[in-house]
Amino acid sequence: MKSATDLPAEETTVKQIPVVETSELTKIYYTGFWMNQKIASLKSCSLRVHQGETFGLLGPNGAGKTTLLKLLLSIVRPTSGRGLLLGKPLGDRTVKQKIGYLPENAYFYDYLTGWEFLQFTAGLFQIPTDMQQQRIPLLLELVGLSKSAAQKKQLRQYSKGMLQRIGVAQAIINDPEVVFLDEPMSGLDPMGRYQIREIILSLKAQGKTIFFNSHVLSDVEKICDRIAILNAGELLCIGSLDQLLGTADTYQVKGKGGNIDTIKSWVQGLVWEDDCWYGQLQGKSEKFIANLESMDAQLISMNLAHVSLEEFFMQQLKQN
Ligand SMILES: Nc1ncnc2c1ncn2[C@@H]1O[C@H](COP(=O)(O)OP(=O)(O)OP(=O)(O)O)[C@@H](O)[C@H]1O
Ligand SMILES: [Mg+2]
Repeated sequence: MKSATDLPAEETTVKQIPVVETSELTKIYYTGFWMNQKIASLKSCSLRVHQGETFGLLGPNGAGKTTLLKLLLSIVRPTSGRGLLLGKPLGDRTVKQKIGYLPENAYFYDYLTGWEFLQFTAGLFQIPTDMQQQRIPLLLELVGLSKSAAQKKQLRQYSKGMLQRIGVAQAIINDPEVVFLDEPMSGLDPMGRYQIREIILSLKAQGKTIFFNSHVLSDVEKICDRIAILNAGELLCIGSLDQLLGTADTYQVKGKGGNIDTIKSWVQGLVWEDDCWYGQLQGKSEKFIANLESMDAQLISMNLAHVSLEEFFMQQLKQN
């Protein structure tokens, strides 16, 4: 199996300050009546997220994304391995003031208005009342909620999209350096997703580091600097989109002649039309070209086909 560290070293032209660092982080849950059933939710996960980055953690259901977030936030303790958040060991209380968090299935107090809820979370961070009065309207504006809706409507009357927005607002009430968002686009319509994306981009513009879990690959492709893919607790790959998708780019080739079995060993999805064959090149293009003569085949065209994040994601899951 390919390990995440087999990938080419990431370019480091600018000095990158790590905000999240994990080393062989592992979480095993013990369940069942006798606590004898093991669920390895995260296996030896080593990764880094740098200051100012928008980092997307992808993976199918049950991959371990939420577990990793909970470990970073010290909601659960690791079975083994280590981690640093803003340079401090996981669990260090001094870091809590500097982080924000939107949980996957956030619980909202039904009978509070949005405004009261934000006052409540501001109180948890001991933000003085006069500062709350200044910050809450600014946050409401940032997340696109009207002041009157926030002051008059109770949270039980909010739509899913409004709840996600107030959830993001509470996650940044303390003006955190790092924001963790667990599936912030989940259950939103295209407009809601667009608006959450815009909020994330405006947080990024303020220099915040954003670490978020998502299933929505198109959103991730639009806003993330770097991504990682988890599957069944294993980190399959990590890197910038350019780096990961670039390594996955393939050639579409078209040619004539040659032995069909030999051509098949080089070209996937081989199709014949008007005496020509075409498909996706497997293996190194230089080697293929060098072998064409011995294959008694002629190359007509060869075009680079860029792989989308969705295709790359599916390839990674199939390969591992
Ligand atoms: N408290 C727990 N006790 C036992 N098993 C757990 C617990 N929390 C998570 N798991 C298991 O750990 C694995 C990873 O779960 P996790 O919630 O981290 O996945 P996820 O990638 O966030 O999935 P989703 O995309 O569905 O949110 C799953 O098999 C899950 O059943
Ligand atoms: Mg999850």
